[in-house]
Amino acid sequence: MTIERTFSIIKPDAVGRNLVGDIYHRFENAGLQIIAAKMLHLSREQAEGFYAEHQGKPFYDPLIKFMTSGPIMVQVLEGEDAIRRHREVIGATDPAKAQAGTIRADYASSVQQNAVHGSDSTTSAEREIAYFFTTEEICPRTR
Ligand code: PPS
Repeated sequence: MTIERTFSIIKPDAVGRNLVGDIYHRFENAGLQIIAAKMLHLSREQAEGFYAEHQGKPFYDPLIKFMTSGPIMVQVLEGEDAIRRHREVIGATDPAKAQAGTIRADYASSVQQNAVHGSDSTTSAEREIAYFFTTEEICPRTR
């Protein structure tokens, strides 16, 4: 199995409810290492650039409004099969369909206020990591 990197956001609903520590604990328990992290309050331009692929969809404006409504945590996670593992810990986009014990089953209240974002492919992980982090800000483990 190859070591992968994925990109993750703890969204404004979860940061606002003081869930950062709990969610980081779940990532680490799943074998994912946090190798870069920072708190941001996105501008409209930053959010629009990040979600550009959804422009024109009916949920685009509410999504941008929500993602700029408060601070978020962005992080790069590294580990075996990290993209799939991270998505497994997060659960389905719609909390009504999320498996019990996943972050979204426990904390999401809707498809919009769904606590966490996770990359869905190696291509999107690479783009999303580079959107928020410079190479110097990423700190893989040395031991
Ligand atoms: S798609 O069209 O299948 O690619 O969309 P999906 O993967 O389901 O969702 C993409 C992101 O949009 C958010 N979303 C919404 N936000 C606000 N309102 C509504 N109705 C809505 N539906 C979907 C969803 O939470 C996804 O956010 P990310 O950050 O990518 O997880």
